[in-house]
Amino acid sequence: MFLFLEGWPALLLALLAGGFLLLRGAKWALGDKLLRDRPIRWEPDPREERRAAHDRKRHASYPNPVSNTWYMLCDSDELAVGRAGGKGKVLEVRALGHTFALWRDPASGKPVVHEAFCPHLGANLAVGGVVNGAGKLVCPFHAWEFNADGSVHDVPYLKGDAAERARCLGGKGAGRGLTMYPAEDFMGVVMVWFHADGAPPEFPLPRFIEEELAGRAPSSAAGKDGAPAHVSHSWTPHLRWDLGHLRLHPTDWVDQAGDHAHFHTLHSRIVIPWTTVELPPWFCRLFPLSICHELRTYRGSDAAWAEKAARDLGPAAAAAAADGRYIFFTDVAGLAWRGKPLASTLSETLEMYVGPALMIFHIPFTLGAFKVLVSTTPAEQGSVMRVRTFCNSGNPLVRALAWLLAGLSGSQLASDIAIMENKIRLAKPQIKPFDGPYMRTNAWLKQFYSEGSAKTADRYCLDW
Ligand code: FES
Ligand SMILES: [Fe+2]
Repeated sequence: MFLFLEGWPALLLALLAGGFLLLRGAKWALGDKLLRDRPIRWEPDPREERRAAHDRKRHASYPNPVSNTWYMLCDSDELAVGRAGGKGKVLEVRALGHTFALWRDPASGKPVVHEAFCPHLGANLAVGGVVNGAGKLVCPFHAWEFNADGSVHDVPYLKGDAAERARCLGGKGAGRGLTMYPAEDFMGVVMVWFHADGAPPEFPLPRFIEEELAGRAPSSAAGKDGAPAHVSHSWTPHLRWDLGHLRLHPTDWVDQAGDHAHFHTLHSRIVIPWTTVELPPWFCRLFPLSICHELRTYRGSDAAWAEKAARDLGPAAAAAAADGRYIFFTDVAGLAWRGKPLASTLSETLEMYVGPALMIFHIPFTLGAFKVLVSTTPAEQGSVMRVRTFCNSGNPLVRALAWLLAGLSGSQLASDIAIMENKIRLAKPQIKPFDGPYMRTNAWLKQFYSEGSAKTADRYCLDW
C-alpha cells in the first residue's frame, strides 16, 4: 500500500504501523505481567452454586475431611534447589484448610513446609519469596530471612551492632518464626504430617516399600500363588496421572477397604483400559467373561497379618508393617468364565492404607509387577487425587503391559469415583454378613481424629 503513497502521508502511516506492531509485541512479551482489567463477576454461576450447595449437604454426613495423618502436597521434583542465580523455588499449596509454602533446604536436601504467611506483616512467602544462595527463605515484602527450621535468621534493616541485632531477633515478636509442619520425601512425592492439635508424627511412612523399590528388599506379595518373593533391581517411575479436584470425600476410600460386596458388582465388569467404556452386551453374551475377586482386610496390628507379612514381605518389612495405623487389603483377582474363576489368570494384589489419605498398591502380573501410589488431599475445591506408578522392569513390552493394567485399575477407580461423588455417608448403615468388615474399618478411622479435629471442623467446611 505504501507504494501508492509518497512524502509525509507515507511516513505517518509507516510510523503508525510501526507503533502498533511495537505495542502488540510488548503486550505479547509482558504476558501476565501486564496490569490489565480483569472481568468482575458479582454473580457466581447458578449451576455451580446449586451443585456446591448439594455437595455441602452431602458432605455434612461425613466426618471432618482433614484427619491427623500424612498427606501428599506435591511431587519431590517440583521443589527445585538452586535455580539460576542461586534462587530456589518456593511453591504454594492450598490444602487441608491452610495455605502452605514449600521449598527445599539446600543444606540438608530435605523438603521444608510451613504456613505461607510471614509472621512480620503477613506477606505470602510463596508469592515472590525466594531461597537465597545461603539457603535462607527471603520474604518478598521486607526481606526478613528465615532458616529451614522456621526461625528468623535476619531482619536486614535492623540497626545496631551484632549483639543488639541478636537481642532484637531473639525478642518477642521479631523472633517468632514460621509455623512448621513435618515433611518428608517418600516414593518421589512430598508428604506432610498434619495434626489438628499440632502433635508430631504418630506413625512413620512405610519406608520398607522404598527399600523394595531400591532393590534392597524382596518384592511384597509374591504374586502368583506359591511363587517365592524375589528382589528386583529394576524398579523405576512409570506413570503420573493427576485426577484433579474431585467432589468425593477422602473417607470414601477407607470405607472401600471394609466394603467387599461392591467388588462383585462395580468391579466385576470388564472395562476398556483408560476409559469408562464397558464391553457391549452382544460381546458379553458371546464371551461371558467377568472379573472375580476374593478379598481380605487386615489391620497392621492383626496376628493374621503378621503371619502373612512374614511369609510375603520378609521379617524386616513385616516388623515395619505391624502398625495399627496401617490397613492391608488383599484381592486375589482374575478372569472368570460364566462366573467360574480361571485359575491361570489369578494373582494377588496387595493394597496398603497409610492412614486415611494414602493408598499404595502392589499389583503383580505374569511378566512383572507394578506399584501404584494414590493420594487424596482435601483442598478448597475438592479432594485432589494423584496417581504415581512404578514398574519393576525396563523392558518396553512389560512396561506397555503395565500401562494397560494400570489403565484397567484406573477404569475401576473411575467406577468408584462416579459413586463417591454423589453418595452420602450413613451414620447407621444396614450392614449384612457378606458386606465385609465395614464397621471395623469405620472404627479404625476414629483413631485419626483428636480433640482439635472436632473444634476446627468448621474451618474445614471446604468449598466443594
Ligand atoms: S511481611 Fe515478611 S518481612 Fe515483612
Ligand atoms: Fe472400589
